[in-house]
Amino acid sequence: MTSTVAIRPSILYFGTPVVLLTTENDDGTPNLAPMSSAWALGRTVVLGLGEDGQSGYNLRRRPDLVISVPGPHLWRQVERLAGVTGRFPVPESKPAGFRFVADKFGRAGLTPRESDIVRPPRVAECGLQFEARAARVGSDATKDFLIVEAEVLKVHADPAVVVPGTDHVDPEAWSPLIYNFRHYFGLGPELGFTYRSETPH
Ligand SMILES: Cc1cc2nc3c(=O)[nH]c(=O)nc-3n(C[C@H](O)[C@H](O)[C@H](O)COP(=O)(O)O)c2cc1C
Repeated sequence: MTSTVAIRPSILYFGTPVVLLTTENDDGTPNLAPMSSAWALGRTVVLGLGEDGQSGYNLRRRPDLVISVPGPHLWRQVERLAGVTGRFPVPESKPAGFRFVADKFGRAGLTPRESDIVRPPRVAECGLQFEARAARVGSDATKDFLIVEAEVLKVHADPAVVVPGTDHVDPEAWSPLIYNFRHYFGLGPELGFTYRSETPH
């Protein structure tokens, strides 16, 4: 059994995948923001977003969004978006040094690719891309964050991560970028699989 000490960490990001969220600005241009507070529940993805950012502003007005999931090789592109916001003027609540950037795709060196169903573009370099629409957008208990429930409408996958001839993502081929207490990691080797795995072995 592990013995413990009581600590008060400033953040609780215990190791979750990074996603890139595309939303639509008032002028029709796309905003792109990295986030890690995203998890799937059936066909719904739940997102936790700061109230002060441009992504939340956009989703309160226009429900279309794209969740693009980068692999570990894209961590530097993700990090180029870490200190910038699409919100102008930059909210005072943002950390010191935060800057406004209108062209987030250009800033990151990533390529927008037109979506089939929703208006915001996908990130072409990402191996998984979900077109989705926010079904519910509300404040969290602290009022500092938005909780967004997004219904996934279409999934695009790099053929290299799909088991040929099936709709299964191959966990041996696919690897997410992990945000582990604000440090970036990839996955280690497979340990095993749950009895409910449907992937052909
Ligand atoms: C790897 C990474 C993960 C992040 N995760 C989140 C998150 O889950 N929720 C959030 O609101 N902000 C998150 N951020 C911070 C936002 O990206 C940042 O607030 C950014 O300004 C949002 O852009 P926007 O204002 O244009 O929407 C994360 C940043 C990085 C680099």
